Parts: sequence; structure tokens; C-alpha cells
Amino acid sequence: MTATSIAFLLNGQPTALPAATSPTTSLLDWLRGTAQGGPGLTGTKEGCAEGDCGACTVVLEEPDGRRTPINACLTLLGQLHGRAIRTVEGLRGPDGAPHPIQVAMAESDGTQCGFCTPGIVMSAWAHCRTGGDPHEALAGNLCRCTGYRPIVEVFERLEDDGARLPAAAFPPPAAARFEAPGQAFHLPATLDELLALRAAHPGAWLLAGGTDLGLRVSDHREVPAEVICLLNVPEMHAVEASPAGLRLGAAVSYARMLRACRDVIGLVGLEGLLARLGSRQIRGLGTLGGNLGTASPIGDALPPLVALGATVTLASVRGRRELPVEQFLTGYRRNALAPDEVILSVFLPAPPPGAHFACEKISKRHDQDIATVGAAMLVDMEGGVVTTARLAFGGVAATVVRARSAEAALLGRPFDAAAVADAARALEADIAPLSDWRGSAAYRLAVAQGLLHRLQLRATRPGLPTHVMAVMEGV
Ligand SMILES: Cc1cc2nc3c(=O)[nH]c(=O)nc-3n(C[C@H](O)[C@H](O)[C@H](O)COP(=O)(O)OP(=O)(O)OC[C@H]3O[C@@H](n4cnc5c(N)ncnc54)[C@H](O)[C@@H]3O)c2cc1C
Ligand code: FES
Ligand code: FES
Repeated sequence: MTATSIAFLLNGQPTALPAATSPTTSLLDWLRGTAQGGPGLTGTKEGCAEGDCGACTVVLEEPDGRRTPINACLTLLGQLHGRAIRTVEGLRGPDGAPHPIQVAMAESDGTQCGFCTPGIVMSAWAHCRTGGDPHEALAGNLCRCTGYRPIVEVFERLEDDGARLPAAAFPPPAAARFEAPGQAFHLPATLDELLALRAAHPGAWLLAGGTDLGLRVSDHREVPAEVICLLNVPEMHAVEASPAGLRLGAAVSYARMLRACRDVIGLVGLEGLLARLGSRQIRGLGTLGGNLGTASPIGDALPPLVALGATVTLASVRGRRELPVEQFLTGYRRNALAPDEVILSVFLPAPPPGAHFACEKISKRHDQDIATVGAAMLVDMEGGVVTTARLAFGGVAATVVRARSAEAALLGRPFDAAAVADAARALEADIAPLSDWRGSAAYRLAVAQGLLHRLQLRATRPGLPTHVMAVMEGV
């Protein structure tokens, strides 16, 4: 395929980048004009350059009218081809007047030094359409000097600004290839094209949302020679919800996965966990396929997949194969992908009706933090006796592990305190936590044991406060 140039809508205007623009330049560097002859839109700020502070928040305008806030520091120019981006400069009205959100931020004393303000305004602009909890909407935006109360108050008063700005018009997705000196960036538009490219370039970066790979560019300044981006392949975005479970294309974003979980009875337990994965900006870009591809022992989505008995479908030019996620994860940041394979989809079976399914993330902060210990636990009973126990823990070994000895200690017994005490003791044989600055090995073991106790209390004594906040509130 002949090389073309990267084209997208920027603040509603068709924008084509000069040929030979590096497709792995971050959107942030390009916007600010510090790289590749960008437009010098310096309203978008650089704080951390690693997805944590939200100063660089811009909004992806989706074809269905949704607004997805994302971090410009993690987004690579090649990922934008055929998409629409709005920056804080693009909120201005046709007469140049500031957007009502900007006026509200100023009049409500929601801005002091102002460094974080453009990013917060963009999160607010997305939130005024999306709705939901203002605190959750703000979790990916740090403000160091104003204090959050006036900002939250602005978020609480937001109303959809409707058609104040003309809707973006999107070109149909088409295959593309971008070239820059020493670089090639492939954007296949069909699964066959993707698989042929993967077979031909097994060493290329396989790029989905880029919230892990983008860090290698923004933080480590790596310049990959070959990238295959799978975002334009329709099968990668398929969502099928049925009473049996949820099948998700590997490039379905967490934001979409969160909404899809609501359609499958029994998977609602996942919602709370997904709402704490990164921030709205990270969930707008990040994918389940990326979490599996990274195979980190603290990937939040992995314990639920193992506890539910989820399977991954892997595809290559040689055909397809299906593997339990448990077998797919083979070690510390290692998985069973062959060099020519991609993760095509993931199937999450719905837990049996009446089963107890809990997902937990223990971290130092509630939002935008990495888990010290993650857990997903599925326990089902018949006639008061445990018939199914699938306990998966993250952050306690080199990879996510099933606690098989603890499961064995529960099976065939009433789900009572004595069984859980035995299971908690058995857990010592199942996990091998490390000590690091997030927590000591002893702390991690105690947390995992405590989570088992909490599951049992919740299953057998509904209504009992089992969260620190609930206990403090004296419920
Ligand atoms: C600020 C910040 C906060 C974060 N918070 C969390 C958090 O709370 N919890 C958490 O679990 N993670 C977190 N992450 C990590 C990251 O968001 C997740 O791991 C995410 O799932 C990665 O998905 P992605 O699509 O962005 O992956 P990418 O960066 O595109 O890819 C990651 C890896 O997966 C491979 N890959 C991607 N898709 C496929 C596929 N279909 N087939 C084969 N290989 C594939 C890539 O080749 C690469 O090796 C955070 C990251 C940042 C920057
Ligand atoms: S610069 Fe901090 S999140 Fe992008
Ligand atoms: S107003 Fe100064 S960092 Fe938020």
C-alpha cells in the first residue's frame, strides 16, 4: 500500500499532516508545536507526560455524539487518522466568546494559577454530555492550588451544551500506511489485513489504546520503527451481550466495557472495579486486549477474567484458537501469544444466578492508582454448601494466580467463618507476594485473607457494613 498522510478533524477543521510527519509523535507535542511543525495550540498543557495529571486532556468527538476525554500526552498522531479531536481552543464560540464552562470556572473561583484549568474544562465539556459522578469525572485531573470544592460545584451544575458547536463529520475508516524516516505505521481496516501485517512484521509494536505503549514514547522517548495499529478493524470493537455472558472485541475501550457490563446480569460486580481503572481519560483509550497483552500482575481486569473462567480468542493467518485466560497468562508480563498472533476477543461468562461475585482493588488512593492487591472471587452454593469457588488474586505473585488451595478449603462446606479461616490459612500456600513500596509481603497476604473474610460476611450477612467508610459512618 502506498503511504498517505495522517488526516483528522481538529476543532472541526479537516487537518492533513505533511507526509513524513512521525506517526508516533504524541498529540501533545504536536499540538503545542514543540514537534513536527504543529499548530502551536498551547492551551493544552504538559504536566507529567505520563497520563496521570490530566493537564493535557483533549476530547475525542465520537461519531455517535459521545465525547471521550483522553490524554494527549499518550495519544500518538497515527492513532488519530479518521478521528475528531477538540482542544480547549475549539470551545470558543463563533464570536470568539469563551464557553459557558470557562465562564463558570472563572466566576466560581474554580481556577487560581490556571495551569490545570484547560484540562479540567475539557473534562467538564465531556462530562456535560456523559453525566455521572463529578468526582469520577475529575479523577484524572490534578489541581494543586485551587482546591476541588469550587471545581466540583461547577461540574455539579453542568448541562449538555447541545449543538453549540457543529457536529463533526467523519470519513469512513479506510486502511492507511504512514511513513517517516526510519518509521512505518500501518492502520489496517480489516482483520485479514491486520493478520497479514502481523505475520509479515512479528516484531512491530501492536498498538491499541496506547496507554501502556504510549508511555514508552512520552516517558522513555522510544521511536518504534514499525507499528501496527488495530483500532480501525471493526471485529476488534464488537460487543455481544447475552444471558450467557459478554463477548468483547479486544480493542473495546474500558469506557465501553463498563457500559456493556450493565447489560449482563451478574457482571455488575465488575462495574465498580472498572470505574476505578485509571481515570476517564485512561478508560477512554485503554482496552482489555491491552491489559492482557501487557500481562502485568497488577492489571485490574485480569483477576475478574480468571475468576469468571473467561476465554481469549487468538487469531493469526494460521487460524483461530481459544484459551482460558488462566492459561494465556504464563508469567511476569508474559503471555501465550505467538509472534504472528493477535488477541481478537474475550468472552466473560456470566456468573451462575445467585452466585456471589466480588471484585476488589486495594490501593493507596481510591482513584487513578495502581492496585497493591487485586482480587476477584466467585463463590456459588447449593443447599448451603459451597459448590463453586474460583478465587483470583493480583499483586501477590509474578502473575495473576488462582488460589487453588484456598478454593479446596471452601468446597463442600458451609460458607461460614470456620471455612473461611481455613481458606485464609491455605492462601499462604497459593500466593508469593513481594515487598515493595506499595506494601510488604505480610501486608499483601493479610489483605488477600481479609478480602476472603469480607466476601463471606457480605454473602452471609447482607447489610453488614464491610467498608471502612460505612463503618466510620456508624451504619
Ligand atoms: C495513567 C495511567 C493509569 C493506569 N491505570 C491503570 C489501572 O488503574 N489499572 C490497570 O490495570 N492498568 C492501568 N493502566 C495501564 C493501562 O491503561 C492498561 O494496561 C490498558 O489495559 C492497556 O490497554 P491499551 O489498549 O492502552 O494497550 P496498548 O498500550 O495499546 O498495548 C499494551 C500491550 O498490549 C499489546 N496489545 C494490545 N492489544 C492487543 C491485541 N489485540 N492483541 C495482542 N496484543 C495486544 C500491545 O502490543 C502492548 O504490548 C494505566 C496506565 C496509565 C498511563
Ligand atoms: S501531561 Fe499529565 S496526563 Fe498528560
Ligand atoms: S489552578 Fe493551579 S493547579 Fe489548578
